[in-house]
Amino acid sequence: RNLLRDQLLKAHELTAMLYHFLLKNSDHGQPAMEYLRQRGFTDKLIDQFQIGYAPNRWDTLTQFLTKRGFDLSEMEQGGLLSMRSDESGYVDRFRDRIMFPIWDRNGKVIAFGGRMLHDGQPKYLNSPESMLFNKSRVLYNLHHAKPSIRKAHQIVLFEGYVDVIQAWDAGVTNGIATMGTALTSDHLNHLKNQAEEVVVCYDGDDAGQAAAMKAIPMLEKAGFQARVAVLPDRLDPDEYIKEHGKERFRHQIIEGAVTPTKFKLIYLKKSHILLEDSGKQRYVSEATKLIAEIQSPTEREVYLKELAQQFPIFDYETLKQECNEFRITL
Ligand code: GTP
Ligand code: MN
Ligand code: MN
Ligand code: MN
Ligand code: MN
Repeated sequence: RNLLRDQLLKAHELTAMLYHFLLKNSDHGQPAMEYLRQRGFTDKLIDQFQIGYAPNRWDTLTQFLTKRGFDLSEMEQGGLLSMRSDESGYVDRFRDRIMFPIWDRNGKVIAFGGRMLHDGQPKYLNSPESMLFNKSRVLYNLHHAKPSIRKAHQIVLFEGYVDVIQAWDAGVTNGIATMGTALTSDHLNHLKNQAEEVVVCYDGDDAGQAAAMKAIPMLEKAGFQARVAVLPDRLDPDEYIKEHGKERFRHQIIEGAVTPTKFKLIYLKKSHILLEDSGKQRYVSEATKLIAEIQSPTEREVYLKELAQQFPIFDYETLKQECNEFRITL
């Protein structure tokens, strides 16, 4: 048995309970509670995700852990405390933040994500890497989502904690997120055999859409069917749910998630200026090249017909011929 590991797990479990208690029961926690309410967190969600609050003090957790006999240097190694700059002792790492516990696949708390209540940097402060916490491996909410993933044979992949939680509340209970890092093959290896399909539901802003473009080939390489949920007006999933409701999120965004080719076409279109014929021509040519990579002839036909319909200055037969020429060079 690894004693240090056991100590850190115990400390994380108790710390999550402390922060959750302080959010719900202390005066310090009231502004945080109001902030969460305003963002649509019900009591039930706060309990289910064991959300907490780290007070704006230097020694709340330090004293708590000291009283319970934990070795403070070990707690610093585990990322719960920080060393004072003059190295004279330890202080709380998280102060005045909403605390999201991060669990391993067995439901043990191994780290935290802490969000500021006000504007400021960094918006999220995560636990550092430790013997418990490997950022490029851990997926937020996997232990909660597992039964639902198995049942639906599907995973929904989000960017942020809040998106996972609000989607859960909207009935999308198979959602998980990376720890603010890009998707890695390490993540995907952990998900193999759990589901056939992954729906990428990243933010509607440029960064989110670019990240979705990068995720597609990785998912396909790992053997998943990939689809992409397209969010309008640069909204992220949480914002979309606030603005358009849970029903529309489930039915239009998640069930309406598009194929990789369709998503690439949408993405490609955004980067072209389509007011002039030359721009249209460049877009249609690149779109045709994309469609040429599709294996199924009937699927190619559907996309080419759609393209010809969108741009009546190009004839379907011509597009088909160009597509076939691209195929020869593949
Ligand atoms: P909210 O503003 O609370 O809705 O968060 P968000 O999830 O919409 O934030 P955003 O889309 O900016 O970022 C997505 C995810 O990236 C977050 O959930 C975090 O995991 C991570 N992230 C965002 N900002 C920071 C940061 O300043 N530092 C770190 N380490 N991670 C961040
Ligand atoms: Mn984002
Ligand atoms: Mn976001
Ligand atoms: Mn957000
Ligand atoms: Mn339905």
